[in-house]
Amino acid sequence: MTAAIISGKQVSDDIRIGIAREVADLAERGVKPGLAVVLVGEDPASQVYVRNKEKSCIELGFHSEVHRLDVATTQQELLALVADLNGRSDIDGILVQLPLPKHIEEKAVIDAISVEKDVDGFHPVNVGNLVIGDDSLLPCTPAGVIELIKRTGTDISGKHAVVIGRSNIVGKPVSLLLQRENATVTMCHSRTANMAELSRQADILVVAIGRANFIDASYVKPGAIVIDVGMNRLDTGKLAGDVDYESARQAAGFITPVPGGVGPMTITMLMSNTLIAAKRRRGLK
Ligand code: GUN
Repeated sequence: MTAAIISGKQVSDDIRIGIAREVADLAERGVKPGLAVVLVGEDPASQVYVRNKEKSCIELGFHSEVHRLDVATTQQELLALVADLNGRSDIDGILVQLPLPKHIEEKAVIDAISVEKDVDGFHPVNVGNLVIGDDSLLPCTPAGVIELIKRTGTDISGKHAVVIGRSNIVGKPVSLLLQRENATVTMCHSRTANMAELSRQADILVVAIGRANFIDASYVKPGAIVIDVGMNRLDTGKLAGDVDYESARQAAGFITPVPGGVGPMTITMLMSNTLIAAKRRRGLK
């Protein structure tokens, strides 16, 4: 069996059509959702991500502003900018690109972002609301993972999902979202014994461990949905996922490629969150 490919690009394009339509409706009411992105320093990967966010904003009709700050910016200066953005009525979403330079405490900065404008879904109040199942802004990559699974036409309810990786930004929130969809969820991580045996029981396998090509067909139950969140830069300069694609696709029913799988979904979910934040702040449905 060879897996069907889940195209994140295609799913992302479909969702963007809906977002653009809603933004056009809001424009008729004089509302333009606004996203502020803050980049401190000149990390090359971060610069690419930030440029892509800016490009998406422009394509979809959002107000976009990027604050590019010197690497020597102090924590106090960054917190002052966040406070200013919190108070601005034309800004609905604030994203501070991570990682930050070492002299700045990431937690202090995330905690300072207004809960209503936290389009990354990283603020502890949004994380807490996710845990207890209340309305919150959902972290973008995990929300994108769930969308990709749903687009296979599979009913998640009652399925056994195995999540490999327990990071705060992917593994943990993905496991919570899968539980919200009534999956039975097993979490695996670097200390898990018998990982392949557990993984082979998964109807839905989500991998986010940051190790290139780690998961091969021996980890995959025949017919399973395999979602690869990994983005590893090889010495050759090529991008590789955490899943050995050529091997795993021989067993899987559905699989996401890297690039072109989860990646395109992350920015689209960021746009979706900014739209949600813009409507909520104005009491609009
Ligand atoms: N750096 C890499 N991914 C992300 C993300 O999703 N949000 C932020 N703020 N920084 C990142």
